[in-house]
Amino acid sequence: MSDSPLSMRPGPIGVFDSGYGGLTILSRIRALLPAYDYIYLGDNARTPYGTRSFEIVYEFTLQAVRRLFEMGCHLVILACNTASAKALRSIQQNDLPHIDPSRRVLGVIRPTAECIGGLTRSRHVGVLATAGTIKSESYILEIRKLHPDITVTGEACPLWVPLVENNEYDKPGADYFVRQHIERLLEKDPDIDAVILGCTHYPLLYDKILKYMPAHVTVIPQGDYVARSLENYLLRHPDMEARCQKHGACRFYTTESVEKFRESASIFLDGPVDVESIVLE
Ligand code: DGL
Repeated sequence: MSDSPLSMRPGPIGVFDSGYGGLTILSRIRALLPAYDYIYLGDNARTPYGTRSFEIVYEFTLQAVRRLFEMGCHLVILACNTASAKALRSIQQNDLPHIDPSRRVLGVIRPTAECIGGLTRSRHVGVLATAGTIKSESYILEIRKLHPDITVTGEACPLWVPLVENNEYDKPGADYFVRQHIERLLEKDPDIDAVILGCTHYPLLYDKILKYMPAHVTVIPQGDYVARSLENYLLRHPDMEARCQKHGACRFYTTESVEKFRESASIFLDGPVDVESIVLE
């Protein structure tokens, strides 16, 4: 981090993901809260995070959070389940007090865990996510805290993020991998009637997921729940709300090339993207 003190002027809300997946969250947040300014940062050069160790995901995520703070953000959303599972708590507890105790970092797992109580009748829920998120057991722990009567079963889908990042998500080759993991999940627990898409890349595979998911199972992308949770957070924290700039603007940063980001981001967003390339360290 640079030695310059962090600005106290109102700033944009930071949205971070390992790659493009967080754009599915950003677009739902902007649909609900269009007045605010946002900065999106995708660590596309180092994606995927899902197969990386705790230490590496923590290190990369902390670098991104520090950079977003330096860019003027007072509030950062980790729009990445893997980063939320592996880095959020350490950053909140160990790093924020040193960096600036008044800044905040929020994740996507808690808002999703909160909503699930009203979406399952059988009280058997499935989670499809990266290997890192499943291994962390974050969904099991968060859901157990809020809804102790719900049984949670996870299935890691290591190839789904590469399918999305490489624009293969709507091609016939993706069907095999989508079907395989849905079948495995439902074999582990046939009573599941609600499945959380616990990775922000997976909404891109939504049509294929619906194709292979039995009709009685509700498939739950997280974007709208994260957006509503942020709205609620801002209502409950007027001090932070006042520190969020409101011109309706959005800037994009990537650790990959600008051309590559522009091309792929157009799958997720309507209209051209104003993007800059940065190095995280
Ligand atoms: N989109 C991220 C998530 O929600 C992670 C993808 C990855 O980098 O593996 O988990």
